[in-house]
Amino acid sequence: MDWNSAFATQMNRVKASEIRERAKTIDLSAVIQLGGGLPDRAILPHPLVQSVCDTILKTDGEAALQYAPSEGYGPLREWLAAYVTKTEFPCSPDNILITNGSQQALDLIGRVFLDVGDQVVLDAPTFIGAIRAFDLTGADYADIGSDFNQPNEDSLKNSSLGYFQADFSNPGGTCYSEKERTLLSDLVNRYSLPIIEDACYTPLRYEGEPLPSIQAINVAQNGGIDNSLVFRTGTFSKTIAPSLRVGWIIGPKEAIRKITLVKQACDLSTGKLAQMIAHSIASQHFDSQCEKAVATYKPRCAAMLKALREHMPDGVSWTKPEGGFYIWLTLPDLIDSKDLANRSLTEAQVSIISGHAFFPGDGGAKYARLSFSLEPEEKGTEAIKRLSALIRSM
Ligand SMILES: Cc1ncc(COP(=O)(O)O)c(C=O)c1O
Repeated sequence: MDWNSAFATQMNRVKASEIRERAKTIDLSAVIQLGGGLPDRAILPHPLVQSVCDTILKTDGEAALQYAPSEGYGPLREWLAAYVTKTEFPCSPDNILITNGSQQALDLIGRVFLDVGDQVVLDAPTFIGAIRAFDLTGADYADIGSDFNQPNEDSLKNSSLGYFQADFSNPGGTCYSEKERTLLSDLVNRYSLPIIEDACYTPLRYEGEPLPSIQAINVAQNGGIDNSLVFRTGTFSKTIAPSLRVGWIIGPKEAIRKITLVKQACDLSTGKLAQMIAHSIASQHFDSQCEKAVATYKPRCAAMLKALREHMPDGVSWTKPEGGFYIWLTLPDLIDSKDLANRSLTEAQVSIISGHAFFPGDGGAKYARLSFSLEPEEKGTEAIKRLSALIRSM
């Protein structure tokens, strides 16, 4: 069977990650992992999950094993709505849809707003999972440009959806200033453009003061969440456990209802047991989970930045994240980041990700992403020493 002729046209855009394919061929136990965006094993709360799960199954076992409503488990939606109301703006459970991780949130919003050939405006480099999700709808992409005072107006005028990360972006590790958030919200209003604000890493701040979300600014400008154009996606993957696959969308209820119908068609609902576990842990321990994560990642970030300062040759520069998981390297012109990522894995036993992955079109040859979430300080420092030596030798 010639499967390629049988696959849908859109499948031409579905490609394997080169680094993952390469990683399959080597002994990963010897590799220092700066590649993936995984939470550290030590912050995954297994004793807590076990006790919460026991309690749920003892007291509410039948309900826990039934289908959940497509909108999500009621008490979890109520908890999230109350959290947003307490910290930002009035929000009701009807403004919330629970999803299978925030990756599904991106997929569902893409399906609701994008026809084949529609354009998504984004700020490249950006999250590869978002590009992959929108690729499936047949979308094209345009870059907004780095100065929101002088944005690429065509990118906004001709787009059907926007995708942005205001806090500790993946892969850049950067944040928008309050002024940039306000400018973006103004632009969204001017062009009546629905946008996604991906807030995956917002709870993981190591330095500086929290800034208002683009959504909060847009809600204030438009007189309430139901008039807002911003869909904010969130997740417990980085603060509780990714395997629960519990994420959410916060947005205007009329659109949330439509997205819920699409979710019904995709998977009926998110697993109820996982949502009940997430609700129980979040409602009692969310702040302490976040504190534990920050205490783990903050010194790793600082150690990696120190190692970069001490060991990287001239001509290499990098971002200085105030939170999240990632540092973004800019390489000297003569070094290609795919070549660097391959040689780093095979010669230095350090996995990194080439910048190519994070641009919808060409681009990325000068960049690489380093993640500091998974390896303790000493290993992160050792990885930077090896990577620096490799770059010097190229
Ligand atoms: C920016 C961003 N958004 C969304 C996701 C998806 O996370 P999940 O589906 O586990 O919630 C990730 C995962 O790494 C991410 O980095």
